[in-house]
Amino acid sequence: MRHNTMNKLVIGELVAKVPIVQGGMGVGISLANLASAVANEGGIGVISAAGIGMFDGKSKDFNYNNVQGLRNEIIKAKKMTSGLLGVNIMVALSNFGELVEAAIEEEIDFIFAGAGLPIDLPKYIRETSKTKLVPIISSGRAAKIIIKKWLKNYNYLPDAFVLEGPLAGGHLGFKKENIELESYKLENLLPEVLEVLAPFEKEYKRKIPVIVGGGIFDGSDIHYYLNNGASAVQMATRFVTTEECDASDVFKQTYIDAKKEDIIYIESPVGLPGRAIRNPYLNDVKNGLKHPFKCPFNCIVTCKKEEAPYCISLALLNAKKGKMDNGFAFAGSNAFRLNEIISVKDLINTLKFEYRKAIKMGTFKNLKKQKVVTALT
Ligand SMILES: Cc1cc2nc3c(=O)[nH]c(=O)nc-3n(C[C@H](O)[C@H](O)[C@H](O)COP(=O)(O)O)c2cc1C
Repeated sequence: MRHNTMNKLVIGELVAKVPIVQGGMGVGISLANLASAVANEGGIGVISAAGIGMFDGKSKDFNYNNVQGLRNEIIKAKKMTSGLLGVNIMVALSNFGELVEAAIEEEIDFIFAGAGLPIDLPKYIRETSKTKLVPIISSGRAAKIIIKKWLKNYNYLPDAFVLEGPLAGGHLGFKKENIELESYKLENLLPEVLEVLAPFEKEYKRKIPVIVGGGIFDGSDIHYYLNNGASAVQMATRFVTTEECDASDVFKQTYIDAKKEDIIYIESPVGLPGRAIRNPYLNDVKNGLKHPFKCPFNCIVTCKKEEAPYCISLALLNAKKGKMDNGFAFAGSNAFRLNEIISVKDLINTLKFEYRKAIKMGTFKNLKKQKVVTALT
């Protein structure tokens, strides 16, 4: 009999009933409220560490505030759910190691680490640690480099990978000229990554789940990827327009108001391309009306502070708070398709319903194919 529910996501001894990971969203877009709501529905809820100490930090030390902020959100989220929780820590953050250590001490279930290769992530794990380590990659090549380094230096095989394609929101792991190439489409990157992982899975007799993200919008997208070797999906943009999302209503409304042509690439001051919603602030940046600023934070290692026309952390923090005159919203390529704010429960139920519908349509298509074959023979 065919299963008409999604398979669970199994990472070591941890099992998510629903194979949906809510992608971490900084600054302050995915905190305890959103993450716990997703975890309560059986998915994995993820708190983003980026700039997490900026909104209620008590100290003048920005990095100290971030570590405290991350601890506080993990503690808060754990009180709101008994489900699975992760943190997203960008490798490029200047206090990456301290944030990782704090998350492990708070016994978070997963650390998702991208925006750079997390080459030394396993060094923070102690024998008693339960935290699973999940690198975020954009190619099979990156998967191979990480596996080889982790095995050689730490005898540690990644617990899973997130493969993020070019349709994602926020900072992207692709050069601008590659973003639209056929070979970089998520559906073409997935087989490449599965091929890299296969010999390691065989040798170590362990599955390394691949969670795919970037542009996944509905249940039929989930159906496609789960049927093509992915173990789960990572979705972020769709979770922005939920009641539980930690962004202000103004931020959420920018998603609802956005049209297709408003979703644009930007060159972020931290040296990576990004995807965002066009607004007057970004127009000013494009027209050279913003000028180099004095950096108060030193938060991202790759930030070109001397030349940067604006501070990305402050711009994103303003956007989180709804101050769009002084900031802008990061968003995935499908943000323009959103038109209402619903609860996380309703969103997950809709995705499950669409998934079942996709199975039925798939069965129907196969049946049709069979009929043709029968007619020919
Ligand atoms: C508003 C926003 C903020 C994001 N912030 C981060 C972040 O801080 N760290 C990160 O690794 N990815 C970040 N991302 C990427 C998401 O975690 C996710 O992988 C990606 O957006 C998935 O594609 P989707 O938005 O089309 O579902 C962000 C995405 C959005 C939309």
